[in-house]
Amino acid sequence: MASASTSPKILLTGVTGYIGGTILNYLLDSSSAATSIDTVSCLLRGPDRAAKLASTYGSRVNPIVYKDFDDIEATVAAAAEHDIVISTTHGWHAASSQALIRGLAQRKAATGRDVWFIHTSGTSNVAYKTMAKGYTEQGRHDLDDAKDDIYAYEKEREQKEGPYGQRTMELAVVDTGLELGVKTLVIMSPTIYGLGSGLWNKLSIQLPMLASAVLKNKRPAVLGEGKGVWDHVHVDDLAELYVLVVRRIIENGGEGVPTGKKGIIFSSNGRFSWLDVTRGMADVLHEKGLLADREVQSVGVSDMKKILGLEGATDDIAQLSYFSDSRTLSSVARSLGWNPTRGEEAWKREIQDVVEAVLAKGA
Ligand SMILES: NC(=O)c1ccc[n+]([C@@H]2O[C@H](COP(=O)([O-])OP(=O)(O)OC[C@H]3O[C@@H](n4cnc5c(N)ncnc54)[C@H](OP(=O)(O)O)[C@@H]3O)[C@@H](O)[C@H]2O)c1
Repeated sequence: MASASTSPKILLTGVTGYIGGTILNYLLDSSSAATSIDTVSCLLRGPDRAAKLASTYGSRVNPIVYKDFDDIEATVAAAAEHDIVISTTHGWHAASSQALIRGLAQRKAATGRDVWFIHTSGTSNVAYKTMAKGYTEQGRHDLDDAKDDIYAYEKEREQKEGPYGQRTMELAVVDTGLELGVKTLVIMSPTIYGLGSGLWNKLSIQLPMLASAVLKNKRPAVLGEGKGVWDHVHVDDLAELYVLVVRRIIENGGEGVPTGKKGIIFSSNGRFSWLDVTRGMADVLHEKGLLADREVQSVGVSDMKKILGLEGATDDIAQLSYFSDSRTLSSVARSLGWNPTRGEEAWKREIQDVVEAVLAKGA
């Protein structure tokens, strides 16, 4: 067990977000753990939000305010004071993540100890379009993080298909970590669901957007036949995975946690089809008397973008993020002892809950 003086210092980014806010609660809840995590530093924007964080969590958080992703100097300086960085901000700004890794490398040079970067990514990186012109992988086997070389696969995709922001950045994280001697672990998540427990954003991205689209369109719609299949994970189960990894690092130097090119792991715990989830949301809205027509409409890419409010996105980004096919097996996390407990029951409840949440938000 690490003593207080040698205990690795943890920096979390994205604490105002859905994933980061939930992870903070789980990191600080150490009731059943061998080692307590006393303090977590949080890099965030907005002095008002830093004040709210401090008034809620007291001395257990150390808020560090910066301007934004482009505030590279402050980013490097913050990471240089820590041994483990957990990054949960948006996954398209490579320079800000590389700055965090550079800061960690400075920390390693100063202390002589290992440093870790835990990066949040998403499985749209490895999804394929179901109605694609051009690149597709119809019929591909499920990607297994213990058996498949995910790094090589993503590198190949970048070459064949062209850059995809979140994937380009993820690969840059791995490469920069290898170059600077910083251990990196990428946690690549599927659709995350469930109510987050952070102080600010408590809602995920895809399902609320889909529920809101069904409501605004006054009719459920899917791309093509809506046959694409994705995986899901509950936000609480996911937060437990992050904490499990952090504890492994603190308690036994990260033994068994893969890093670098091998350190890209999945967190899936169930599967859904876009058609089923869209139908489910339509049924809930219909029962509430808010949707007269619940027959699912099949649309093309440009209509799908309009319905989802994704007019600004390229066809590729829109199609990889929604109604694509992405099947992953989270073998590594399970081999580390991850035991997600929110299963099909929770997923079924989510369809109802997410519609309620979107209605409550007025979207
Ligand atoms: N939710 C999912 O289902 C899911 C699944 C897989 C992967 N992911 C990926 O995980 C990441 C986080 O997801 P999330 O659902 O937690 O998103 P979120 O709730 O929107 O949180 C995003 C975080 O990024 C910060 N941020 C955004 N722009 C910034 C900027 N210019 N400078 C500094 N900070 C900035 C936000 O801070 P402010 O509050 O200051 O804006 C917030 O803390 C995203 O990259 C997402 O694509 C999400």
